[in-house]
Amino acid sequence: MTNAKRTMLKRVLVTGCSTGIGAATVRLLLQRGMYIVATARSVETLEPLKEAAAQSSGTLFTTSLDVTVDSSRRAAFAFAEEKLGGVDVLINNAGYGQMGPIEEVPLELIRQQFETNVFGLIAMCQLVLPSMRAQRHGRIINISSILEVVSLPMGGIYSASKYALAGISDAMRIEVEPFGIEVVLILPGPIKSEFPRTAALSTQSLWNNLESSAYKPWAVPILSRWKANQPRSGEVSVEVCAEVVARAVEDRRPRIRYVITNRARMLYTMRKLLPDRILDSALRKVFNMRKDKGGQAS
Ligand SMILES: NC(=O)c1ccc[n+]([C@@H]2O[C@H](COP(=O)([O-])OP(=O)(O)OC[C@H]3O[C@@H](n4cnc5c(N)ncnc54)[C@H](OP(=O)(O)O)[C@@H]3O)[C@@H](O)[C@H]2O)c1
Repeated sequence: MTNAKRTMLKRVLVTGCSTGIGAATVRLLLQRGMYIVATARSVETLEPLKEAAAQSSGTLFTTSLDVTVDSSRRAAFAFAEEKLGGVDVLINNAGYGQMGPIEEVPLELIRQQFETNVFGLIAMCQLVLPSMRAQRHGRIINISSILEVVSLPMGGIYSASKYALAGISDAMRIEVEPFGIEVVLILPGPIKSEFPRTAALSTQSLWNNLESSAYKPWAVPILSRWKANQPRSGEVSVEVCAEVVARAVEDRRPRIRYVITNRARMLYTMRKLLPDRILDSALRKVFNMRKDKGGQAS
């Protein structure tokens, strides 16, 4: 990329860097010479990033951050301001997928999903925006998902959190533009990370009840795939995903949405072009959700 197309945004705060997309993004941005505050719930998990920093032209600071805890968010932001002298870019990456049929996921688990993927993210934006407004520039990059436009059976709770994220980002982008602040959404499709393992963990407490569940014929095959941690069709590496996140940091005029993986682009196009009923029918076929498989009204 030519310098003319690159921003000078260099001071970056990233959430959820213990593994996956967050860790890969930090590694790449360090290679690009940026100043990073990488955060994780458990700060020890960030040790490997220190080795990466030592071999890069970038500068790394690490601190703990649980995005669901107010005191933790405030301490991490204060740390970033102190170490970096300000934040140019916030990458809201921390998140996980709560799976299961809507009827049977306990409300408490749904609340936890929203605490992390939605409320934690909003709170991080609320923390950085005053100083971004004061410096009259900034960029907030929200790691959403292709599931912010398509909601799949047994993944409705996770999708709801990402649909919410889309709603927040679309309004915020227009609200903060007058202050020179940009809001970008990243919509990854399947990326090889810890995500499937965590998604499987999220269903652990549901398995006892699934045997007697009205949704068993469909829930068991779908949730078993998460449990078995089988490779997902069309998966790409975290490095491929990180390249796109880095583009969202560096592009002088970033896109509103960056869609990652061919599978995600296909779903994105289907959502834009197909009437809802046709899309439902296609998904019903993919997930084998026919009435005659056991869907008797009770
Ligand atoms: N992988 C995919 O296929 C995929 C596709 C679309 C979107 N995404 C999105 O990409 C983002 C990153 O996921 P990933 O694929 O890299 O999965 P991952 O490897 O499981 O990483 C998730 C990260 O989020 C952190 N996290 C979870 N809860 C947190 C909390 N309360 N506070 C702070 N950090 C927390 C995890 O930290 P701990 O180690 O402490 O748990 C971990 O660092 C998520 O927002 C996810 O929804 C992923």
